[in-house]
Amino acid sequence: TPIGGLRGRLLNKDITHNTMTKVLIATEKPFAPVAVDGIRKIVEGAGFELVLLEKYTERQQLLDAVKDVDAIIVRSDKIQADVFEAAKNLNIVVRAGAGYDNVDLEAATKHNVCVMNTPGQNSNAVAELAFALMLAMVRNHFNGKSGSELKGKKLGIQGFGHIGRCLAKIAQGFGMEVYYNKRHRLDAAEEKELGLTYCSQEDLFKQCDIVSLNTPKTAETVKSINGKYVKMMPKGGVIVNTARKEIIDEECFLAALKERTDVRYATDIAPDMHEEYQKELQDRYLATAKKMGAQTAEANINAGLAAANQIVGFIKDGCETFRVN
Ligand code: 3PG
Repeated sequence: TPIGGLRGRLLNKDITHNTMTKVLIATEKPFAPVAVDGIRKIVEGAGFELVLLEKYTERQQLLDAVKDVDAIIVRSDKIQADVFEAAKNLNIVVRAGAGYDNVDLEAATKHNVCVMNTPGQNSNAVAELAFALMLAMVRNHFNGKSGSELKGKKLGIQGFGHIGRCLAKIAQGFGMEVYYNKRHRLDAAEEKELGLTYCSQEDLFKQCDIVSLNTPKTAETVKSINGKYVKMMPKGGVIVNTARKEIIDEECFLAALKERTDVRYATDIAPDMHEEYQKELQDRYLATAKKMGAQTAEANINAGLAAANQIVGFIKDGCETFRVN
């Protein structure tokens, strides 16, 4: 008999009192050990078993590991049709993080698997990294040359979700003016309370000294940031990307940066054209070695523990908060 809130729902495997529910952490880029310990406590505390697959290098390792598990916690790991085919008992995948573009939602739904994310849990880490990138750019990579300050400058936040909110607070601490652009504008009272000025995407690039890109990767946003926005920026402008690399139209973005020799670009994941960017832009360009916006112990704990709790809530009580398919 399926237990708790899942009673009566069609499951891929009946979760019965006499079968151990297995939860797999599959992370090519592992969580901090303290986060794994916390996840283990939650999972084992619920009477489930935890299985760990970290730093795997071959797809087959992932496909072997998912064979008999009921639930999977992942980061940017690619969870596509082959995984759903292999994981016959699977009922839920939780992406411990915000962006779930790494999970094939259609295949998940086809296989009757619930997919969730953990929105907001790692956003402070990403916002802090965005500031680290801004500071590295305006202080010339700390190379000894005179730079400029953030105080008094205009920060434009493009895409105003959880990360945008963290960015706005930090920016105000630096004494920056904060502008934002969002598909659905906040209401006037909230704008006032948060001390924000709304403007169109074009105006954001025209008016702000620094623009931070924070939109998710969707069919609408892929390649949406192109060379035209680089050309709109005021003299000495900086663009910081802690969103997905795919939202940039890499070729024309680089072409515009070659024309506008005063504009700088910092990104938390190298573009596909990384070598060309580096060669052409030199110290006007900075890319992290690996996507590391959420690479902090705190972000791993917040997102990892939320993922574990969501799995327990789903399996025991049928709770579907943060379901995305
Ligand atoms: C997210 O979407 O939450 C971030 O990009 C973090 O991704 P990561 O878990 O691969 O670091």
